[in-house]
Parts: sequence; structure tokens; C-alpha cells
Amino acid sequence: MKKEKLKELYEFKIKEFNNHNFLYFEKNNPKISDAEFDLLKKEILDLEKKYKFLKSENSPSKTLGFKPSKIFKKFAHSVPMLSLGNAFSKDDLINFEKKIKNYLNQNNNYEIEYSAEPKIDGISASLIYKNGKFVRGLSRGDGKEGEDITENLKTINDIPSIVSSNDFPKEIDIRGEVFIQNNDFKKIQNKFANPRNAASGSLRQKDPKDTKKIPLKFIAYTYGYEDGMNIRYQSEFLKKLKSWGFKINPLNKTISGVENLMSNYYSIEKKRNELNFDIDGIVYKINSFDVQKRLGNVSNAPRWAVAHKFSANSGISKIIDIDIQVGRTGALTPVAKISPINIGGVVVSNATLHNEDEIKRKDVRKGDTVRVERAGDVIPHIISVDLNKRDKQSKKFIFPTKCPSCGSKTIKELNAITKKEDAVRRCSSEGFDCEKVSIEKIKHFVSKEAFNIDGFGKKIVEKFWYLKMIKLPQDIFKLNFSKIEHLDGWGKQSANKLKYSIEQRKSISFDKFIYSLGIRHIGLENAKLISKYLKTANNFISLSKNKNFSELLNIDGIGETQINSIKNFFLNDTNLQVIIELNKILKIKDSLKINKDGPLANKTFMLTGKLDGISRAEAKSLIEQNSGTIISNVSKKLDYLIIGEKPTKRKVETAKDLKIKILNQKEWFKILNKTG
Ligand code: IVH
Repeated sequence: MKKEKLKELYEFKIKEFNNHNFLYFEKNNPKISDAEFDLLKKEILDLEKKYKFLKSENSPSKTLGFKPSKIFKKFAHSVPMLSLGNAFSKDDLINFEKKIKNYLNQNNNYEIEYSAEPKIDGISASLIYKNGKFVRGLSRGDGKEGEDITENLKTINDIPSIVSSNDFPKEIDIRGEVFIQNNDFKKIQNKFANPRNAASGSLRQKDPKDTKKIPLKFIAYTYGYEDGMNIRYQSEFLKKLKSWGFKINPLNKTISGVENLMSNYYSIEKKRNELNFDIDGIVYKINSFDVQKRLGNVSNAPRWAVAHKFSANSGISKIIDIDIQVGRTGALTPVAKISPINIGGVVVSNATLHNEDEIKRKDVRKGDTVRVERAGDVIPHIISVDLNKRDKQSKKFIFPTKCPSCGSKTIKELNAITKKEDAVRRCSSEGFDCEKVSIEKIKHFVSKEAFNIDGFGKKIVEKFWYLKMIKLPQDIFKLNFSKIEHLDGWGKQSANKLKYSIEQRKSISFDKFIYSLGIRHIGLENAKLISKYLKTANNFISLSKNKNFSELLNIDGIGETQINSIKNFFLNDTNLQVIIELNKILKIKDSLKINKDGPLANKTFMLTGKLDGISRAEAKSLIEQNSGTIISNVSKKLDYLIIGEKPTKRKVETAKDLKIKILNQKEWFKILNKTG
């Protein structure tokens, strides 16, 4: 190979390596197996050994190896470290406010006060203080469990080891961002792609002395749990943090109304380049802790906060090819394979083209020169085509009418509500009959939010699938480990480890089980609703046997779309077989109420009419939090009918006939020990 080509190959491998390093450690979302990762590193080192002229400051032989993540002990966070929903535009903010007002049952005049805090792009950490002493520091990890990086955190000057203020809570878990300032990053920038990588790499060093070599900073902005804190507002909390000796962001502000949020956003975006730290947006948090508590969380992000991201980074590249990927729900997604480019520190070589309509609209073709955008955690996408650079010979892209995986017809569904044709084209085969759909379904099944089988990554699913070791989800629990042990890249230890991870997941909650089946339109939230209603996996199976799907309409939040999807799912015999088989192998835990002995235990409730200052959704969750059950019919099973303004007359009358207790809001709040 020529010198130049060798250099190109070498540099490409380093870029790849650093990208995977980032995906693994920063994003917690590896796209290749550990073995492949190690191989890539070895290839780079081998090239360096063989061809002495190959040198790069970015090579894994030079950079701080930030692989030691696995050496740290793991601890569960006492309160999960959540992530944030994103907003990109004013409309997104208006929507965010609207949802909150609906939930709180407030009209448009209700003014929401926010704490607006520049979002530093670093690594979050949780610091536990007991009696004023810093006792343990954890990384975010997967949000539930973090790595014990106490000793490394202790090297950071901004983190007080002792807080002696009288009003410092007896126990508190203070959370914030570890980052490196731009002037400090300049000194080491040849070692890392960006400041964030540098902070993360440094924080994860085995030896705290290595951490100390790189000057890290810490800014505090929230808490996990606390014992003995009497503060009602985020803005007040931030001030307290400062008085306790923590650093807070000097650009934090308290702001009301979307217009004012927008002007603050623009003014900070303008200053962005002059700041000594990288920010990628502004976090808005509802200022009142009481209101935050009422709003609570959706699956892994609070309802009361959002990250308003700055406009994306973009770059120019060339489309090498257009691939059609088949997803778990049969959706055909066109993906542009582009020549690799670095956008904001991440090497991008794939960009989504969303769907058939998008390709048509933009007339994207193979060989085109395009602008690619990458914003935060969003998948990179193509924003425009440079027509001046288009080759005269280029031809329009023709979207396949047959599934590239199984050859079945592809279809565009008609939306039952809007009566419009779906923008997405799908493979018409059913579930496990299509190879690609089947593989994606299994990937979903083992994924973090579903069965969460440790070490069972996407690559392994593919490998086992092609080796015909798994075809359906139940096969995962019947794997032949003495065979796995002898596969390339495996050994006794790794096989045993996987076996153990699988064994551990044989017991699963009913809601996770439903979610893991990957039924279209049944995400985590809907799976929870269904599990709460049906209680047991057997009821789920009988649902299909008795064809009693419309029963699910009783669940608030489940509508025709979801029910049709469940119906379709069960129409396929393989799907039913999968559930029956899994039910034999697994211990699917019945869904129990979280708190069984709240003041409303063993009582059933129904709501009618408009309540005052509280939405339906909040009222229901309040009943459930206090161990009550919601039912949606007035029958003998009902204990209490709660009536608000303009209740449905028929419901009230039937309740009276059946001698069911009727409560107004005040009376109901009294039972809850609340004043209304
Ligand atoms: S609050 C529960 N406040 O953003 C809300 N997070 O996408 C989450 N971040 O992991 C934490 N600045 O690393 C909060 N002022 C700020 C923040 C902030 C940066 C990061 C943090 C978190 C991520 C959420």
C-alpha cells in the first residue's frame, strides 16, 4: 500500500476508534462489541508498530486511555439521575408550557416562573454529603446506577470537602456538571476531540493523580434527595448553593413567559463564543418546588424541565449510497451513507433521510453533495442538497416497493383519524416473518428499557441470529452456552457472564414485559397503563383468546390506535406463541400497586366533572399514589364517585341508585389529608 493510502487508513481508524470511545463512554450507547473495539485499537497500534512514519496525537497510544469505566464500583442512585426533554424552537416552548398548564388545570393567564440555566456540556455527577462532609461521588452511569468516582472528584477544587454552614442539610445529594474550561482545554486539545471528552476521560482515570493533571471545574445546579432542607424555589436553592461554597453558573436567571425566555436565549447564544465553557442550550426549570412535585416525571425526564438547545452544528459531505433500513415496526427508513465528517467532535458517517416523502421533497440522490446537521442527541440528518455540485448523470432515487429484507410488498397506511396516507412506508409482512424486523424486535427485547440484559448488545443479537441460535425472543433463554463459549471472540468467562445476565432477567415486571414485546404504539407509558389495568400476564393472554380488546378502552390514555395495534399484534399466531412460551419460561411479576397502604387502600374511585385547580391526569395519579384504584364505570364495584363542576348526570344518578358514596372535591381532599 502507498504511504498516503496507509496514512489515510490509519487516520480513519483513529477517528472511528475515538467515535466509538465516545459512544461507549459518553453516550453509554456502544455500536460495536468490546471485542471489536479492542480489535480496532490493536489494528491502530499494529499499524504504528509496522510503519514508523505513522504518528498521531489522537491515537489511542497517546491519549489518556479512558477505558477504565469498568474498574469503578457501581452504586444505585437514591433518586434516579434523569435526562431532559429537548426543545428547539419557540413553538416547542409554547407547547411545553401548554402541557404543563393542562396538567395543572390552569388557563392561559397562569404565569409560570422558570429558573433559566445555561446548559454546560460536561459530565454530570452526584455528590453525597452527610453531616456536611463529602462522603461519596457518583457518575450518572445509566441514570439508575453510577460509578463511584469519589476519589477523582475530590481532586476538583470547586467541590468542597466540608460544608459547615448551619443551614446545610443533614444529608444531601448535590448534583452538577464536571467540565473543563476552554482555556485549559487548549493546552491538551490534541489529545481529545472536544472539551467534553477531555472532562470525561480525566474523570474516569484509574489513578486520581491522573485526574488531577487536568484542571476540572464543577458547577452545581440541582439535588437528588435531601434531609433537612427547607427551600421552596430553585432560584433560592441556587443562591443557597453559593452560600454553601459551591460554584453556580453566573448566567442563571429567573424568568417568566415564553417571550422573555426567547430573548434570554438569543442574548446567551450571542455570548456563547465568548464564554470560557461550552454550553449547548439553556435548561428551564419550573421555579417552584411544590409545582415541580405536582408535575412529577415521565419515564426518564421530569415534566417540569426542558433543555432549549442551540441551533445545530452542521457540515458538508457527499452521499456514497442510500441504504434502506427496516425497523422493528417494519418501517423502511432511508439512510444516507456519507463520507465521514467531524461535526462538533463526533464523526458522522450515516445521516437519516427520514422517509420516502422526505427524499422526494428534497430530491436527494446518490452522489449528491449535502449539508448534514447534528443537534445534541438527535440522529444526524440531511438538511439540503447542493444542486450546483450535482453530477449531470445522476438519477432520481427510486424507493423500493418491496421490502429489501423479505421481499414482501411495502405499504403506506392510511391514518384512521386524519385519513391521510402515512409518510412512512412499511414492510407488510407480519413481525417475526421478516428477517430484519425480527432482528430489530429482538434487539428491542434485550434493550435497556426492556429486558435490560447486560452485555447482550445489538451486535450480539445479529451474530446469534445469523448463526441461527436465536429466532424468537424465547430462544434467548434456551441458548447453548457451551457452543457460545467456542465462538470467535468468546470464552468460558464471557459466556458465563452472559448466562448469568440472562438468568437474572428471568423475573420481570409485567409492564416491562408488555413493553419488550415491541407492539407498535405501546411504549413504556402505555405498557404501564395496560399492566396496571390487566394486573397479570395471564389476563393479557386471555385478552387475545377472548378477543376482548375493546375492554382496554376503559384505560384512560389508551385509544383506538393502541387497541388496533394490539389487535393486529395478536392476529399473528407467532406473536401469541411467543407470549405463551415466554410466560412458561419467565416469572412475570403481577403488577401491584406501588404503595399498598395509603389512605385510599382497597377503595375504588371514579371522577366526573371538572375539578378545581387539578387536572384529570393529576387527580388520577394522586388517587393511585395513595393506593386507590380508578375504575371507569359506575357499578357495584365502585366505592366513591368524585364530582367536580358539571358532572355527568347519569353517572351521579346511577351512583345514588346504587348507594355509592358521592364526594365533592373538598371531601375527597379531606380523605387525602389535603386542604382543597
Ligand atoms: S438538571 C432532572 N440543570 O443536562 C433534570 N441539568 O439532559 C436534569 N445539565 O444530565 C438535571 N446543565 O448533565 C440540570 N442547569 C442544569 C444543567 C443540567 C447541564 C445536564 C446534565 C444532565 C443533562 C440532561
